Amino acid sequence: MSPFHLTRTLPEDATDAALRADVLHGLTRMPKTLPPKWFYDAHGSNLFEKITELPEYYPTRAEREILIGRAGEIASATGARTLVELGSGSSEKTRYLLDALTGLDTYVPVDVSESALTQAGHALIAERPGLNVHALIADFTAGLELPDTPGPRLVAFLGGTIGNLVPDERAAFLTSVRSLLAPKDALLLGTDLVKDESVLVAAYDDAAGVTAEFNKNVLTVVNRELGADFDPGAFAHVALWDPENEWIEMRLRALRAQTVKVPTLDLAVDFIRGEEMRTEVSAKFRKDGIRHELAAARLALTHWWTDTDGRFALSLSVTR
Ligand code: AVJ
Repeated sequence: MSPFHLTRTLPEDATDAALRADVLHGLTRMPKTLPPKWFYDAHGSNLFEKITELPEYYPTRAEREILIGRAGEIASATGARTLVELGSGSSEKTRYLLDALTGLDTYVPVDVSESALTQAGHALIAERPGLNVHALIADFTAGLELPDTPGPRLVAFLGGTIGNLVPDERAAFLTSVRSLLAPKDALLLGTDLVKDESVLVAAYDDAAGVTAEFNKNVLTVVNRELGADFDPGAFAHVALWDPENEWIEMRLRALRAQTVKVPTLDLAVDFIRGEEMRTEVSAKFRKDGIRHELAAARLALTHWWTDTDGRFALSLSVTR
């Protein structure tokens, strides 16, 4: 049997249906919204890769620093034989964990993108001949079913992507992850931390304008997938810090009054000049808040590691 195994738990047309539902819901409510998961077509994924290399965008570098410094501790604390990675994408940072987890039997990357899974999976198998890779095409915000692989399991959710969920969604997500864990299993969670507003805003409004292009790319995705006629040039990129919610909000501001048609949904949407549509929240965390959110999902925080500058954290938690 080949050590590369791919399981699809998402119907082929699930993505289409979800996009249609999100766009219909988001463009007919006030204020208008589009969820951030639709940024990541091939172009958007490339733009995000570019963002991670920008001088202003520190989270990727900070998290990599922690992983490099702490992978050994993560390995000895968990003794993981199965590593499950939610939203694995290119599996770039996973290598530090894979190298440190000496007793690892199986790697389970979970992503909605089949092409990312196949590419990353085959590359890993070539590099690590003994490793079983069981890739899952799945939406981890819905209910996940994991393959039957040896424990202990370590479930990793890196990059700070949990910040894209609002508090209710985070609670539901953590509860569903908790339901996957047996007593010896653990959750490794990457979270960006609250810091100076100017540092945060710069990370989401870079001087080179890459994040602005990334933000407007969601309009191109809706145009291509649903036949809409958004003019990306008629919107401006906005990134602001919301101190009450402690999150960064990205928005697209209509530069003039306009009507956008979405033929697939039989929809015409009016924007007034200056109207702002929310495209992302990226929540920033504090240790006490994380501990509390984990505890509410019956998870106990056991380790907390930050980069030297205290900008980003990795936490390890276990069932309780
Ligand atoms: C990939 C979700 C962690 O929220 O910082 C980067 C996405 N948005 N710049 C983040 C993103 C704008 C990123 N995550």
